[in-house]
Amino acid sequence: MTLAIIGGTGLTRIDDLHITGQQTLDTPFGSPSADYVFGELNGKKLIFLARHGTPHRIPPHQINYRANIWGLKQLGATEIIAVAAVGGISKTMAPGHVAIPDQIIDYSYGREHTFFAEDLQHVTHIDFTEPYTPSLRQRILQAARDAGIEIAARGTYGCTQGPRLETVAEIKRMARDGCDLVGMTGMPEAALARELDLPYANLSVVANWAAGIVAGEITMAEIEKNLEVGMDKAIALLQATTLLTKPSSV
Ligand code: HPA
Repeated sequence: MTLAIIGGTGLTRIDDLHITGQQTLDTPFGSPSADYVFGELNGKKLIFLARHGTPHRIPPHQINYRANIWGLKQLGATEIIAVAAVGGISKTMAPGHVAIPDQIIDYSYGREHTFFAEDLQHVTHIDFTEPYTPSLRQRILQAARDAGIEIAARGTYGCTQGPRLETVAEIKRMARDGCDLVGMTGMPEAALARELDLPYANLSVVANWAAGIVAGEITMAEIEKNLEVGMDKAIALLQATTLLTKPSSV
């Protein structure tokens, strides 16, 4: 297994990662967000990619999701854990908490969202009944239990277009739809990983209450403060997950 981690807002690097290399890559779909960083965590090989670039500069709707996922496949990644900052909609998704969602609703638009668009011999419809790979989710949940890290073990992630945050009415609608979390980067990333047969799970870190869940505006200061707490938990969980990950054969 070679685990890849895609880091989102608040996770542009993993301090404990023992870095062994770095690679700039070009793909048939253009340039990935940043160089891929190779390293070892708990003795397990790992590839890290900063989704928003280094420094953090690419907004959610301009991320080249196809290049990012294609590059990971090309470099030999065999599974992906995608870390993402989100807003909490359900009462259980308080700021600073970590969740491993099990479902997605996609509200994004105008993004290059499939590899199956050009030079087609036939039309392909991937199965997306379970958008996050159940076995990988289970491994993360087991790691959380082993390490005594409190997490929300399921949830529906709603992906909005961004870069603006949502209105109160939009969040009310998302709550009625069944969304527990709202973020801007979960799609098309998850579907692209499935198209390339790459097991994929999402590790969401709640940065703020979504619009209107509590009174007042959402500030960047609040988001940054909560992400600091939440990302520490996320990194501990990633560490614990590597303990349950089979070593790479190459
Ligand atoms: N909405 C969408 N994406 C987000 C939020 C939010 O409230 N917080 C962090 N990412």
